[in-house]
Amino acid sequence: MIKVDVQAGNALDTAVDVMLVSVSGGADGWSGPAAEIDAALGGQMKRLAGESEFTGAAGQTFLLQTLGAIAPRRVCLVGAGELESGSELDDKRRRGWANGLRSAVQAGAQSIAVAFDTPAPGEIEMAVEGMLLGNYRFVEHFGALRQRDRDRVDPDVTVIVDAEHVAMVTESVRRATAIADGVYLARDLVSEPASALNPGTMAARATEVAASHGLECTVLGVTELERLGAGALLGVGKGSDVPPCLIHLVYRPDGEISGPPVGLVGKCITFDTGGYSIKTGEGMLTMKGDMAGGAAVLGAMRALKELDVRREVHGIICAAENMISGGAFRPGDVLTAMNGITIEITSTDAEGRLVLADGLVYTARQGVAEMVDLATLTGAAVVALGDTTALFASDDGLAARLLDAAARTGERAWRMPLIADHKDRLKGEIADLKNTGGRPAGAVIAALFLEHFSEGIPWAHLDIAGSARSEKTSGYTPQGATGTGVRTLLSYLSTPPA
Ligand code: BES
Ligand code: MN
Ligand code: ZN
Repeated sequence: MIKVDVQAGNALDTAVDVMLVSVSGGADGWSGPAAEIDAALGGQMKRLAGESEFTGAAGQTFLLQTLGAIAPRRVCLVGAGELESGSELDDKRRRGWANGLRSAVQAGAQSIAVAFDTPAPGEIEMAVEGMLLGNYRFVEHFGALRQRDRDRVDPDVTVIVDAEHVAMVTESVRRATAIADGVYLARDLVSEPASALNPGTMAARATEVAASHGLECTVLGVTELERLGAGALLGVGKGSDVPPCLIHLVYRPDGEISGPPVGLVGKCITFDTGGYSIKTGEGMLTMKGDMAGGAAVLGAMRALKELDVRREVHGIICAAENMISGGAFRPGDVLTAMNGITIEITSTDAEGRLVLADGLVYTARQGVAEMVDLATLTGAAVVALGDTTALFASDDGLAARLLDAAARTGERAWRMPLIADHKDRLKGEIADLKNTGGRPAGAVIAALFLEHFSEGIPWAHLDIAGSARSEKTSGYTPQGATGTGVRTLLSYLSTPPA
């Protein structure tokens, strides 16, 4: 990832390939560095920008040569929209900064500087976050044909500010970097093929991250899971050569605590074939990413210490590979979850809710006051909301805090109902529950299933099946793994209940 520097200086005298400056669409749109540069260029920049489509609207960019008139060789204007703030506008700005950096990179810039009008911590954090997130690439498996792409070096990026703002800006850059590091980790894990990322290697990654980021980490293997009676997680993992595990990370803040302990639970199916209720070839194509919930939990946990979060946080990752073999679980089998509820398997492809069942009960027993699970759980959530996350919650306060957190980050989420009338659709024939309840309202049914394992603790469920992957590059979201959930969780954990 690009390391962003902060230096005291002036935009006009900084010799770089591209100088990024923001321009708002309001009446005072051209102030600060943009106005200074425009004056130094005899008003030419404003004129040329006006002749092109550039109006200063959020998300727009405009690149201009300076022909030696000032030290920066090119200037890239980034539209900041109207000056007032709002979460939707903020996200457009975040995207604008990502587009600005992308156009500078595409123009071949090796050195890039960024100058702000009146540097405010929120604005800088947002800008740096947008730029870093937008510059993500996963080149690990580029080979002989893509050597040049693989070896491409990132540009140097420096934020230029007045001497008096250096400390404040440095802190904002540090926070944005911590957040982006968490998102990068989640994206890397989702991008990695299932041949390399299985429950065992996921546990190894979590152990490493914990050691370097101030977390405790315990990995519960098959023997411990058997002792705990985690029959649902064990059942799903039975068909794989790699045993399932439950990864338990803990973050305990030094010093003052604000807000009760919270649990984050991630579905981490490192590959979902569907099991004997096998998927189609097409349906299986993106199923190495069926661990995006677990990746989001690990990505968020990685950043807690760097962001100085004031709550105790338990991160639980339910890891298994849903494979087919002589040992695999079958339709018709009955599994017993950790809380004694028995589950008749009507589809081995509804495996996410099974591993989460044990994960939720386990988490509830850690003494948390609320818990949030993240899972690429249902195709029905994709049909209902596309790339918007479906949020379900047993508690209105928790739902509101999560929706606020999501809105602040630009990760779109929409609340869906837990329709109690549908509960009878999950009644088992020979066991307590069955794990599917028909196609209508499939995402709701899955959430109702999970609620049985929330043990009466305020609980929320984020179905990220449609938001974990993006089919195209847009703003700060490159094609492929999005790392969704990491920023929502961090924003939620940074603002404890009133
Ligand atoms: N991992 C899938 C859900 C999924 C689908 C995620 C598409 C991302 C994109 C999940 O395990 C699954 O297979 N769900 C089934 C449930 C059904 C059998 C009740 C589904 O949605 O079809
Ligand atoms: Mn499945
Ligand atoms: Zn799945």
